[in-house]
Amino acid sequence: MSLLELDGVKVHFPIKKGLLFDRTVGHVYAVDGVSLKVEAGETYGLVGESGCGKTTLGRSVLRLVDITEGSVVLDGTDLAKLPGEEMRRFRRRLQMVFQDPLGSLNPRQNIESILSEGMIAHGIGKDQEERREKIKAILDKVGLPSNALARYPHEFSGGQRQRIGIARALVLEPDVIICDEPVSALDVSVQAQVINLLEELQEELGLTYVVIAHDLAVVRHISDTIGVMYLGSLVEEAPSDALYAEPKHPYTKALMSAVPVPDPEVEDKRERILLTGDLPSPANPPTGCRFHTRCPWAQAERCATERPQLRDVGGGHRVACHYAEDIASGKLTLTKGEVVSATREGVDDNPETDTPAKIPAQAEKISKAEKPAKTEKPAEAEKSAQAEKPVKAEKAEKAEKAEKPVKAEKAEKPAKAEGAEKPAEAEKAAEAAEGEKSVEAGKPAQAEKPAEADDAPAEAEASDAPAEAEASDAPEASEEPGKAV
Ligand SMILES: Nc1ncnc2c1ncn2[C@@H]1O[C@H](COP(=O)(O)OP(=O)(O)OP(=O)(O)O)[C@@H](O)[C@H]1O
Ligand code: SF4
Ligand SMILES: [Mg+2]
Repeated sequence: MSLLELDGVKVHFPIKKGLLFDRTVGHVYAVDGVSLKVEAGETYGLVGESGCGKTTLGRSVLRLVDITEGSVVLDGTDLAKLPGEEMRRFRRRLQMVFQDPLGSLNPRQNIESILSEGMIAHGIGKDQEERREKIKAILDKVGLPSNALARYPHEFSGGQRQRIGIARALVLEPDVIICDEPVSALDVSVQAQVINLLEELQEELGLTYVVIAHDLAVVRHISDTIGVMYLGSLVEEAPSDALYAEPKHPYTKALMSAVPVPDPEVEDKRERILLTGDLPSPANPPTGCRFHTRCPWAQAERCATERPQLRDVGGGHRVACHYAEDIASGKLTLTKGEVVSATREGVDDNPETDTPAKIPAQAEKISKAEKPAKTEKPAEAEKSAQAEKPVKAEKAEKAEKAEKPVKAEKAEKPAKAEGAEKPAEAEKAAEAAEGEKSVEAGKPAQAEKPAEADDAPAEAEASDAPAEAEASDAPEASEEPGKAV
């Protein structure tokens, strides 16, 4: 049996309407029947475009959102059926590194307080002295100085904050860590360092990861197995090398075709599959194969009426397409869309509206960043560089860079969940409420911000402000990631 097994997991968010009485008028089918297995000590990479349900799936594993249907079995125990208190105990073994490193750290708690919180909740360490020693050891592992203990999240760079998020997960000695876009909010130069750190920690501590990313290069680099999601479902899953060598699902083929190849000869001949149409709303997914509205190989029979199951096509390669074999053999030709030379003049490899382009643009960045980072002993290099860097200048620069993509992503969401009653706000509120709970919990003793922390640059402080304001009026969230998970 695998360490983590998901079977038919569905998460459907109700769409409510009505002034006096809330009526459920539909659902956002954020996750709609995902089954996968993660082996102990391995990394499962989950990719897919924005809004396809990656984060929701990760959160459902930790029961941070309610599972509508299906089972999540960790080491033989079905988490979906566990009562609240038992589930809380299980969370020590299952941790999450959140998508937004700044938003997931309570700005009013110092690092010692943030990292101690989960340890106290799970009864780790007999007193604060013992906990502090353990935290110092973990900070050292993730490449942060021990004087970080007394500092606050805003005093760190984006890469350092992501390391704090990783340290927060590690202090609880989990078996599985779900890393949600662990590097997408980071500078290119820091991305490879964090990825390398995750790999080193895995080797040293025998960790099992689920790594969620937009970025095909990030997951390729780190994953043993990769799952590709489209509109709430897995459309393809395969060992990493097999998926990159021969993608079999039309959606994966389109994603891969947009990734630039470092070899100039291959790159000159690369063909790109251009998809037509927009990503459908998860509140109103297409019938049959969810991809049929955009699939370049869609057939008149079956595609619009019969939902393909994920089936094994050999070598552990699973594909949800009725015609995978015929497409691979060339028996079927394109019915729509276009195959063009990727290097053709006028083909933009990163048009904002084009689905696969978001992924290759980032892929190119990471592949360029990988080489220098590896040869330079990333952890130490970053540690010393960051230790020397003036905090103010670093913070202003990083806060600005790290904040932008997150905000842009959030802003996109209402359009995707069109028809839903403000799903994006609901999500923000839930995340903010998680922050709020931490604030409440952190208030006594360490919660107060010392005077010296207030000398932070105005820009960085200002960027934190909306998140705090949201937290104050947010509804109660199902769980709090920072302390309970
Ligand atoms: N609490 C919620 N209530 C209603 N809809 C939600 C909620 N959380 C997420 N959704 C919707 O579910 C869908 C999947 O969202 P999710 O955040 O899981 O996507 P994602 O793949 O992680 O996207 P991204 O790459 O942008 O982070 C989106 O359409 C989103 O609007
Ligand atoms: S089942 Fe049909 S629409 Fe779906 S991916 Fe395969 S060919 Fe395309
Ligand atoms: Mg996400």
